[in-house]
Amino acid sequence: MTEKIVLAYSGGLDTSVMIKWLQEKYNAEVITATINVGQPGDLAEVEQKANKLGVLKHYSIDAKEEFATKYIFPAIKANALYEGKYPLSTTLSRPLIVAKMVEIAEKESATALAHGCTGKGNDQVRFDISIGCLAPDLKIIAPVREWNMTRDEEIEYAKAKGIAVSTAAKKYSIDESIWGRSIECGALEDASREPPEDAFEWTTSPKDAPDTPEYVTIEFKAGVPVALNNETLAPVSLIEKLNKTSGKHGVGRIDHIEDRMVGIKSREIYECPAATVLLEAHKDLEKMVLTRHEVLFKQQIDTQWTFLVYAGLWLDPLREDLEAFINKSQENVTGEVCVKLYKGGLQVVGRSSPMSLYDQNLVNYNIKTGFNQSYSKGFIELWGLQTKMHNLLKRKIKGQKTAKGEV
Ligand code: ARG
Repeated sequence: MTEKIVLAYSGGLDTSVMIKWLQEKYNAEVITATINVGQPGDLAEVEQKANKLGVLKHYSIDAKEEFATKYIFPAIKANALYEGKYPLSTTLSRPLIVAKMVEIAEKESATALAHGCTGKGNDQVRFDISIGCLAPDLKIIAPVREWNMTRDEEIEYAKAKGIAVSTAAKKYSIDESIWGRSIECGALEDASREPPEDAFEWTTSPKDAPDTPEYVTIEFKAGVPVALNNETLAPVSLIEKLNKTSGKHGVGRIDHIEDRMVGIKSREIYECPAATVLLEAHKDLEKMVLTRHEVLFKQQIDTQWTFLVYAGLWLDPLREDLEAFINKSQENVTGEVCVKLYKGGLQVVGRSSPMSLYDQNLVNYNIKTGFNQSYSKGFIELWGLQTKMHNLLKRKIKGQKTAKGEV
């Protein structure tokens, strides 16, 4: 039986080579699917390229809105920064891409799904587990894991098969969504060296960024952004607009050492302008409206959510369990945050909320406020009780003098 394969197709080098390779190696009928999660580029061109390579059919699916509301918004609510740095710009799109591919496979009665992940990265983990959950009967083909071609050999193969290779593809491996741009390979693999300027496309080099700071006000309602500078915007437009504004100021460049699921430590470069700003603003607003107990407890839940999603377990029930808590915690996360963008840096410089627990009257140094300072003395006595008892005991054991001259 001929294999009928749905391939997640980006139009890039790996997946283009894959069309030919699957046709040749498996004698397969290949259906390509490009899921638009906000990667720039001409989707009509991608379709043309697929058709030129002899695919049976090509699907182009606009999933930006769904990506923003069902994947990015939960990540904002969870303050999702993997290892404190990475906003999951690539990660979050994977389970969505799989869901769309599975829909196509069912419609087309396909026998297999194929993806362009290597055997060294995280994306294979995310694709394979999500496919296994949503379509346990479909075969998974990951050509890059099988074919053992070096990147240079792949470029040679592409040339031999008449596949166009862009100059960017030769230098870096790039993955983009509205949540950010991931850049890997080439000169970036030397973790000791600063990334070359040509690795960046979404962000201005901070030295060339405007000499005057720009302020953006973000309005949140129940944990999600709804307006920029008082203009109500749909989720995708809001993120796209903020990418432009913050990118212009060089904000959102990330360079860190990341622990991949397969155990490899990798040097990762990202440009995530909107994500960097929105996550910082959201976290700041939470600190104004949540109690201290909520903030501290939520940090653990957020870390767990972020790890689970990074680790390819989007479909584990724990994610929704954690989200039950997270969503409840967001009921009061409503208000405005003002962020200053300047020369590659960002700072929250103001915030306000109708649900604020911050009370200027309490914190004010004036004597006549609603805060009764005389209560503090008793509070401190009890708060430090056990700590003081421990230290008293220590002094006794050492034969040192204790209070009131006792030994
Ligand atoms: N390390 C990131 C992640 O696991 C990004 C992977 C980027 N992929 C790429 N082809 N450049 O989510």
